[in-house]
Amino acid sequence: MKLSIIGGGAWGATLGQLLVDNGNEVVIYDINEQFVLTINQKHVHPFFDLPLPQTLLATNDLQEALAFSDYLVLAVPTKVMRSLLNTINSALKSPKYFINVSKGIEPDTSKRVSEIVEEVISNDHLAGFAVLTGPSHAEEVIRRKLTLLTIASKNMALAQSLQNVFSNDSYMRVYTSDDLIGCEVGGAVKNAIAVVSGMATGLDMGENARAALITRGIVEIVRVVEAYGGKRETAFGLTGVGDLIVTASSENSRNFKAGKQIGLGKSMAQIYQEEKQTIEGVRAIEALHQLALKKGLSLPIIEVAYHVIFEEMPIQDAVTKLLTRTLKSEKID
Ligand SMILES: NC(=O)c1ccc[n+]([C@@H]2O[C@H](COP(=O)([O-])OP(=O)(O)OC[C@H]3O[C@@H](n4cnc5c(N)ncnc54)[C@H](O)[C@@H]3O)[C@@H](O)[C@H]2O)c1
Repeated sequence: MKLSIIGGGAWGATLGQLLVDNGNEVVIYDINEQFVLTINQKHVHPFFDLPLPQTLLATNDLQEALAFSDYLVLAVPTKVMRSLLNTINSALKSPKYFINVSKGIEPDTSKRVSEIVEEVISNDHLAGFAVLTGPSHAEEVIRRKLTLLTIASKNMALAQSLQNVFSNDSYMRVYTSDDLIGCEVGGAVKNAIAVVSGMATGLDMGENARAALITRGIVEIVRVVEAYGGKRETAFGLTGVGDLIVTASSENSRNFKAGKQIGLGKSMAQIYQEEKQTIEGVRAIEALHQLALKKGLSLPIIEVAYHVIFEEMPIQDAVTKLLTRTLKSEKID
């Protein structure tokens, strides 16, 4: 099969290798000319300095990528998704399947990527939508280390056909799910909790505190998944708790590392300057803060993280705010 990957960063280029390993023809589109040259001329991953298959091609020409296949794998940061989809919609001449692999929620609107796609891509250009998500550091998938993901769609025939496209017998096993909302939301909220876990680590709060924040963070993932209309069981699967486990204490996670730097006292401006790649969790905290206000949701951990990051609340005040909440029994609801 032919697929076009939109965004050839850490994850997009890695999925390019996976798809070529699985016998597909792949073109990657990216705005970064250097990445395109690195892939086409050196056959090296733009971030990991590891070889890529010679047959994996890249382009700066969006039209070329759109004409190449009927399947568009969206691997750009959520913050550029709406504007990029607008450009794609204007350029499309035929219907496409959209497979989102980014993990975020739009800050101003609290919308999921599937909602943005449905809003922006006209009906005659939208053949179907799926999300591919789960615990996956690109650093490991590029080294062909064992990984399990979930592909979710409202269209189970599409999910099943894509399950076969992305799975292989040596390192990638993909499950299907009909809970598109739960899968999309879990991946975004776990990034927010990973930032908080990193903050606790940077502050040297100890492993007890980190375990507590991660566990109560799972409660917040469940609440958000259900608030959007997703299933509770999905929050406990690969795309929620599974992805949180891989992210929440890993130096491979940009979200965890960004949180750690915040805990160590760095400003977001400094962090963004040093980390050129996508940090979805910080934007997810902003989006979830908006959602909590809109829907009256109780997300105390995400709320204090919002106050620290966006309103300069001293971290000690944030910890006090969490500890002085009314004492209660341990429940998810
Ligand atoms: N890195 C991982 O391990 C991993 C794993 C699973 C999911 N994800 C998700 O995938 C998404 C991308 O993450 P990443 O790690 O690849 O980020 P990245 O910053 O490494 O790559 C993003 C790429 O998008 C490109 N880009 C930005 N704007 C563009 C535009 N308008 N048109 C075309 N290309 C554009 C950038 O040039 C860059 O190459 C995020 O939502 C992330 O949460 C990442």
